[in-house]
Amino acid sequence: MSWTKICDASDVSANSVKKVDVNGISVLVVNYGSGFRVIPPLCPHMEEPLEESGIVARCTLTCSKHLWCWNMQTLEMQGETEKPLKVYESKEENGAILANIENELTYEFEDEGGADDDDFFK
Ligand code: FES
Repeated sequence: MSWTKICDASDVSANSVKKVDVNGISVLVVNYGSGFRVIPPLCPHMEEPLEESGIVARCTLTCSKHLWCWNMQTLEMQGETEKPLKVYESKEENGAILANIENELTYEFEDEGGADDDDFFK
């Protein structure tokens, strides 16, 4: 396991997110007030960039597109949310956020309409 510095903890203010590129992999640092999480930058629902649509409040990250949300401390899904959030192992050390990013975490998105396109040519 190798820890990589993502950013300084002071770079991400409380209840906000920050997108950072780490060796060619984009990650989102979430400061949920009482801690940090390092996650992939896209919403697992429909690839919405959480840097723009993510709202952090009361320990919860909400995607403002369709209101999927996750408790950032326990990672429990809230409300109508149907997919868990993936997270990189991370820690805060000497004012820096470190994460273990050996492999990029991604989601499988349903290819809406893809089946119809295939049928069209048969
Ligand atoms: S795209 Fe994020 S909740 Fe739908």
